[in-house]
Amino acid sequence: MRVLGRVAWAWLVVLLLLQLAGASHVVYDDLEVEAATEAVPPSIIDSLLRTGYHFQPPKNWVNDPNAPLYYKGWYHLFYQYNPKGAVWGNIVWAHSVSQDLINWVALEPAIEPSIPSDKYGCWSGSATTLPDGTPAIMYTGVNRPDVNYQVQNVAYPRNKSDPLLRKWTKPAHNPIIVPEGSINATQFRDPTTAWRADGHWRLLVGSVARGTRGVAYVYRSRDFKRWTRVRRPLHSAPTGMWECPDFYPVTADGGRAGLETSVSGPRVKYVLKNSLDLRRYDYYTVGTYDRKAEQYVPDDPAGDDHHLRYDYGNFYASKTFYDPAKRRRILWGWANESDTASDDVAKGWAGIQAIPRTVWLDPSGKQLLQWPIEEVEALRGKSVTLKNRVIKPGEHVEVTGLQTAQADVEVSFEVSSMAGAEPLDPALASDAQRLCGARGAGVTGGVGPFGLWVLASADREERTAVFFRVFRAAGNKKPVVLMCTDPTKSSLVPNLYQPTFAGFVDTDISKGKISLRSLIDRSVVESFGAGGKTCILSRVYPSLAIGKNARLYVFNNGKSDVKVSHLTAWEMKKPLMNGA
Ligand code: FRU
Repeated sequence: MRVLGRVAWAWLVVLLLLQLAGASHVVYDDLEVEAATEAVPPSIIDSLLRTGYHFQPPKNWVNDPNAPLYYKGWYHLFYQYNPKGAVWGNIVWAHSVSQDLINWVALEPAIEPSIPSDKYGCWSGSATTLPDGTPAIMYTGVNRPDVNYQVQNVAYPRNKSDPLLRKWTKPAHNPIIVPEGSINATQFRDPTTAWRADGHWRLLVGSVARGTRGVAYVYRSRDFKRWTRVRRPLHSAPTGMWECPDFYPVTADGGRAGLETSVSGPRVKYVLKNSLDLRRYDYYTVGTYDRKAEQYVPDDPAGDDHHLRYDYGNFYASKTFYDPAKRRRILWGWANESDTASDDVAKGWAGIQAIPRTVWLDPSGKQLLQWPIEEVEALRGKSVTLKNRVIKPGEHVEVTGLQTAQADVEVSFEVSSMAGAEPLDPALASDAQRLCGARGAGVTGGVGPFGLWVLASADREERTAVFFRVFRAAGNKKPVVLMCTDPTKSSLVPNLYQPTFAGFVDTDISKGKISLRSLIDRSVVESFGAGGKTCILSRVYPSLAIGKNARLYVFNNGKSDVKVSHLTAWEMKKPLMNGA
C-alpha cells in the first residue's frame, strides 16, 4: 500500500470528522475572515501558481457553481463565495457575467442573507427560465443559528429589463419548501432547475434518508409558489447524502445538441448526477424517466455503484444548464485546492471553476462525452506542432518554442501493436484509482505508460504525468485502457497532498489510436481522454516548474513504440477575469 503523507492523513481525518458531523465543508472559525499571513513555504503562495484562464474571483474562497443561465445576450454565473476570507464560511452568492463564458466581469453579490429563511446561509441552487423568459432562482437557505436547518427559497430579478440581472428580490412567501415529516432537516438542500410537463413544475432536492440512503426528493407545483412533495423520491441509493443533484434530458440520436430541461420524447434519455458528500465526487447514471410515476431508472442496473464520474479528479458540486444561444448543454464544476487551509489563507484565495464543458450523450448511449466549450479556443496564441514523431521505449521528447505554464495541448497517439500489453490484474480490474496507484507513470509497462509530462522542470525533477496505459484483458475482450494523472512528482514542496487520479477509457484502442487534450493553467491540469470519454482535473503546485520555467514533454515508458501522429500546443492568453 502506498504510504500516505502527513497531509493526506490529515485530510482523511478531516473527511472522517466531516462525515460524523454530517456537514459538507470544513469550518475553520478562526480562519473564516482574512487572517495574518502565516509562514508557509514561499512556493505555495507564489502568485505564478494562481490560475490564468480558469474562472475565479480576485480573492477569497469559492465553492459550488450556482444557477448558471443565459439571459438577453449574457451568461451569468453565481457561485458560493466567502467575501471575508479564503476558507469556507459567510457564504453568499457572488455573481459574474460574460458574453462568451471566458471573459468575466464581477458584479455585486446577487443573494446574501437578508430574510429569516436564509439568515444563516445562502447555499447552492439553480435557475429555471419561466415561460415568459424570466429566470427564477431556487436556493437553499439556512434559517437557524444553532444547527444547519435547511429550507428552499425563491428569488426573482428586480428589474427584468436589466440584462445583467444585478438585483434580486425574495418574495414574502419564502420559504417555499420546508422539510416536513421524517425528512432530515439538516441534510436537505440544493434544488435543481425545474422542468415542466402537463401543467406541473417539478424539481429535485438532495437529501439522505435513514442515515445512509442518498435521495432526490421530487417536488411539484402548478404556480412555482406552492410545492408538494411526491411520496416516492425520484431515485435513491445507499451512498450517503446526495448534494447538488442535477437531472436533465440528453438527445439519444447521436447528436451533440443540448436539450432544454423540460424537453422529452422518444429519442430522449436522462442523466441523474449526484455529488456524493462522503466521497466528494460527482457520479452520474444514464437512464429513463417515467413522468407519470415520477421515477428514474438507470439503464445499467449496477449504475448506482459509482461506475461513471464526470471527472475522475478534483471536480465537485457541478451543475449543467441549457444554453439556448448555441443549443448546447454546458457543465460547470468546482475544483477545490488540494493544499492546506493555512496555505489557502496565506495565498488569499481558494477554489476555481473548471473550464465549462459541453456535454452530450455518447453514440453508445452508455456514457456522456465532455469537451471544453469552443470559446476557450479564442485564448489560443502562439503554437507549436509535432507530426509523425515516433517515441521509442524509455524516450521523452520536449515540446519547445513556447511557454507552457498556461497552455492547451491536443495530441493523438498511434499504437501499432497490442502484443506487449501487460495482463490486467483481476484484483484491480474495477478500481482504476488503485491500478494507477500501483502502476504509476514511473513503472515501466508494455503498451504505455505514454502521454504528457506537463508543468515539468528543466531536469524533470518536477513533472505531472497525464497518460494512458493499456492492459490485456482476460478472454477475447478488447484491451483495457487506463487514463491517469500522476502528480506524485509534481512538486518538491514537502507534505503536499498529491493524489493520483484515474479512470478507465471505454474505447477500442486495438484500432490503433487515442487522443488526449490537456488544459494546463499554472496550478491546474484538466485533461480529456479519447475525445472527452474520460476526464481528469488535478490541482498541482510545482515549486520549480512555474512561469517561464514550466516545460512540456511527450513520454513513453512502455516497451513498444508509440507514434505521436499529431500534437499541437498553444500558449493560452489571460482573459478578463473578474477584474483580477
Ligand atoms: C456542496 C455544498 C452544498 C451546499 C453548499 C454550501 O459543496 O455542501 O451541498 O449547498 O456546498 O456552500
